[in-house]
Amino acid sequence: MDNRMLQRRRIRRGFIWGLTALLAGCLLQWAPAILLAADEYEVPAGLKAVPVPDDNPPSAAKIALGKQLYFDPRLSRTDDVSCASCHHPDKGWSNGERFATGVEGQKGGRSAPTIVNSAYARFNFWDGRAGTLEDQALGPVQNPIEMDLKLPELEKKLNAIKGYQEQFQSVFGTDVTSDGVAKAIAAYERTVLSGNAPYDRFKAGDKSALSEAAQRGMHIFFNKAVCSACHVGPNFSDNAFHNVGVGMDQKEPDVGREAVSGLLGDRGSFKTPTLREIGRTAPYMHDGSLATLEDVIEHYRKGGVPNPQLDEEIFPLKVSDEEKADLITFLKEGLSSDSYPTHEAPKLPE
Ligand code: HEC
Ligand code: HEC
Repeated sequence: MDNRMLQRRRIRRGFIWGLTALLAGCLLQWAPAILLAADEYEVPAGLKAVPVPDDNPPSAAKIALGKQLYFDPRLSRTDDVSCASCHHPDKGWSNGERFATGVEGQKGGRSAPTIVNSAYARFNFWDGRAGTLEDQALGPVQNPIEMDLKLPELEKKLNAIKGYQEQFQSVFGTDVTSDGVAKAIAAYERTVLSGNAPYDRFKAGDKSALSEAAQRGMHIFFNKAVCSACHVGPNFSDNAFHNVGVGMDQKEPDVGREAVSGLLGDRGSFKTPTLREIGRTAPYMHDGSLATLEDVIEHYRKGGVPNPQLDEEIFPLKVSDEEKADLITFLKEGLSSDSYPTHEAPKLPE
């Protein structure tokens, strides 16, 4: 065997070993996912597997319990505000208002985001102050202007309801605990998914899934207007915070992420929201200040409200009125699911 053949053989062997190592690596990485397959959420086309915390695997009984809690106004001090009051399936899982209204008609200063696909959010709330959905769920229950119920009272109240007592015993093997309430609600929220939209079918190869206007709008979204610098991936969010110049002309602008990170560079930054079902969730932005998608595109077209922390990806867009209309068509038509999660309120336990 001459030297060249030996060398080639070595290269080939090296290649095979490399490939084997790579495959083994991939398999190891996927192994937990494969083992978890039995408890996975059903995911509509176009979305990725739902990430689930190790200590809160889903089950049908837990999800059913979480759904009752989500729709139950008894989780508020005044028995008249539920999670669904502000995140309602008929209103894009938001509330259709600029600000949310909690107990005794009190209003906060931020708009209620949709909870659609919040299963994929790395941070929750506009400023990302909560991590997982489990961390988030007890926030509104205790918030004095939302549901205003202290956790010991919540536990006492729900423990007195036989149907909840029994379900907690069978799902968690305990009385009602606030930890269990958070876990069950989070497990339920992970079922509120929107995929399988015309955009997903178009991407999968069905060229008739999007109208021509929507296709032109999609092209502008991903290229000329670089909306995808932030609204990226299957859920159209980079799970990060940006100042796109909303509300920065107010007297005392909401500082957003800065309140959590303590960094001046984060002033006026908010979490990039999903754009799935965006046609259903007006008004828009953390302060609900933009009533329509036309207003949103106009905001981006002028390059937001100038301010020292404005993101470098925000600049005046040179898009014509026609292109603006196409962008909106893409957002409305392309990102509205053919299997929108319309959940009916369940029967509540007594
Ligand atoms: C009174 C209205 C109101 C009620 C009731 C309410 N929320 Fe919210 N929700 C909001 C508002 C407003 C925000 C945004 C607050 C912020 O970012 O500071 C929010 C944020 C969220 C988020 C974060 C979404 C995201 O994209 O960051 C989730 C998840 C959520 N709520 C779930 C719930 C659950 C679960 C309940 C019931 C236990 C609930 N909400 C009750 C108004 C409400
Ligand atoms: C630099 C990152 C970035 C870029 C680029 C960007 N966005 Fe956004 N987008 C955000 C953030 C962050 C918010 C929330 C801002 C706030 O509430 O203050 C947002 C909000 C929105 C909303 C409102 C969503 C809701 O639920 O209220 C829409 C619609 C939207 N963007 C569409 C677009 C379009 C269309 C483009 C391209 C023309 C675009 N975005 C470019 C980061 C970005």
